[in-house]
Amino acid sequence: MEERAMEQLLAGLRAAGEPTRLRLIALLSRSELTVTELTQILRQSQPRVSRHLKLLCEAGLLDRFREGSWVFYRLARLGDGARLAEVLTDFVPDSDLTVARDLERLEAVRTARATRAADYFRANAEEWNSIRSLYVPEEKVEATVTGLVGDREIDGFVDLGTGTGRMLELFGPKAKWGLGIDLSAEMLAFARANLEKPEYQHCSVRQADLYDLPIQDQSADLVTLHQVLHYLDDPLGAIGEAVRILKPGGRLIIADFAPHELDYLREEQAHRRLGFAREEISDWLCDCGLVTSEILTLPPEGAEDAKLTVLVWVGDMPTDGAVPARKARVHDLLGAK
Ligand SMILES: C[S@@+](CC[C@H](N)C(=O)[O-])C[C@H]1O[C@@H](n2cnc3c(N)ncnc32)[C@H](O)[C@@H]1O
Repeated sequence: MEERAMEQLLAGLRAAGEPTRLRLIALLSRSELTVTELTQILRQSQPRVSRHLKLLCEAGLLDRFREGSWVFYRLARLGDGARLAEVLTDFVPDSDLTVARDLERLEAVRTARATRAADYFRANAEEWNSIRSLYVPEEKVEATVTGLVGDREIDGFVDLGTGTGRMLELFGPKAKWGLGIDLSAEMLAFARANLEKPEYQHCSVRQADLYDLPIQDQSADLVTLHQVLHYLDDPLGAIGEAVRILKPGGRLIIADFAPHELDYLREEQAHRRLGFAREEISDWLCDCGLVTSEILTLPPEGAEDAKLTVLVWVGDMPTDGAVPARKARVHDLLGAK
């Protein structure tokens, strides 16, 4: 057993011990990326990049997953390879000229992607409420998420990627203050109009990036991410930032699609991910220090073209508020050796 672990470690180190492969590890520690995106960033041919990726996957340092016609790569999540990959990322210097250029090009790729999604939301702000009900029994989702909050005391409520502000309409009346965050000014214009009623006087919206919230640590009792994660290139980063603002004992509710194969949604509606497996998001919640207390499944029904299942995850912050951050956990493991 010991011998096997040693072999694995050596295989991992051999796989990582090459400049392009270290650059791949540094890039994939920041974002899930497709081969096409990695080819653009590294400026190397697709067969070459694919060969490096294959070696890193075989050594257990990377995970590969297919969604429709896209294949994504990311740092491995489980096993010794995952720990090694995470440790290696700490040693790759961002200041190295080649790495710094890669990171600049990664930023350009992300900006292009975000611009595409923002263009989509700008163009569809007016119709968003009807678009989103094309696939899901929306009233059912709303009844489910409101049921999950019940009569819990809510001082602060924050809705991330609030769009037209629907979650604020639902939960605002239950909270002492409510705040909706969105990048799209057009979406927020509709949210502001929807919230112009006396019962929402204590609710407001703000244009900001959900990866970098203008909100203090541990200030919200309830945070929602409703149909937002599948647009994002770093869903785990978004969950981490949501958890940062949760109070001890607070609750994060995520509603999103279960894995599906409607590839055209990438082109037509700027989806980045084709849904999420139950354990994918519950692992992320756990990585960020929350306890997954429920995962509910809402199968499609009603309209003939309704094909998407909605999953609702509930993540609870322990009342002592101790958040074992992902990095810290890896360092603890290393320190313990
Ligand atoms: C599909 S809409 C969902 C809106 C709302 N939660 C709902 O269910 O009606 C996704 C929203 O996320 C917003 N969004 C995407 N990326 C964002 C980011 N990085 N920061 C803030 N908002 C973002 C978009 O502008 C869009 O309004």
